[in-house]
Amino acid sequence: MSKFEKTKWADSEFSQNYRDDADIYLPYRSQFIEVVKSLYSYFIDKKSEVRILDIGCGDGLFVQEILKSFSPKHATLVDGSSEMLKAAQNRLEHYKNTSFIEASFQNLVSDEPLLENFDFIYSSLAIHHLPFEEKRKLYTYIYKLLSPGGCFVNYDVVAPQSGKVEKWFLSLWRQWIAEHPCKERSEKLLDIPDQYKANKDNIPDTLEAQLSTLVEIGFRQVDCYFKYGIFSLFGGFK
Ligand SMILES: C[S@@+](CC[C@H](N)C(=O)[O-])C[C@H]1O[C@@H](n2cnc3c(N)ncnc32)[C@H](O)[C@@H]1O
Repeated sequence: MSKFEKTKWADSEFSQNYRDDADIYLPYRSQFIEVVKSLYSYFIDKKSEVRILDIGCGDGLFVQEILKSFSPKHATLVDGSSEMLKAAQNRLEHYKNTSFIEASFQNLVSDEPLLENFDFIYSSLAIHHLPFEEKRKLYTYIYKLLSPGGCFVNYDVVAPQSGKVEKWFLSLWRQWIAEHPCKERSEKLLDIPDQYKANKDNIPDTLEAQLSTLVEIGFRQVDCYFKYGIFSLFGGFK
């Protein structure tokens, strides 16, 4: 089984750089989050006493966005990095009914420490670090954790169908960074797409393979809800 401690996310400088620069180099990040909020509003917000879970939560930005607009009964945030969790705790310090759990995806699957069910499970830009078999095990565990009618969405990078398309998607990503209004900062980040490609921690699988796996596990209404280049938002319902 892969080990979280061996990835770059266990390195504090790497995770700090992400927190500092992600808004500049993640194409349409706020639009991706708006689409998730729309899905949440349409399908989940009508339920009573909603419990949400964010796995690989980073510094808690997504849960904060949900808590600004909606009032779930409880939010649980999980991450393998204690530093990321601390940043999430700071960001959400004024919100009650939140809990923070330090655990890797590998721990979640093997130890099953989460004892309740959730109506909405979210993950962003984290699951692509797992090899395909471990993704499948995590998706199976997520399915088990969902309440009937609950929804799982994953906003993540996926592998393109061919090398040619991948080259185009990476150039599209570079162009997006270059067009950022703050040139001084964006110029320093132009090599992020190449770093992403060279980093062996990144093991994206195709969208097609992951959607089929979700269907096999039992998820319904499985679909890709939004996409730009390699960045995809997909998931399904229980
Ligand atoms: C790119 S950051 C994304 C953070 C947040 N979801 C966001 O969108 O801003 C990836 C996060 O996944 C976490 N992560 C990566 N691999 C993990 C694993 N195997 N188990 C638990 N967390 C993991 C990292 O610590 C980091 O916080």
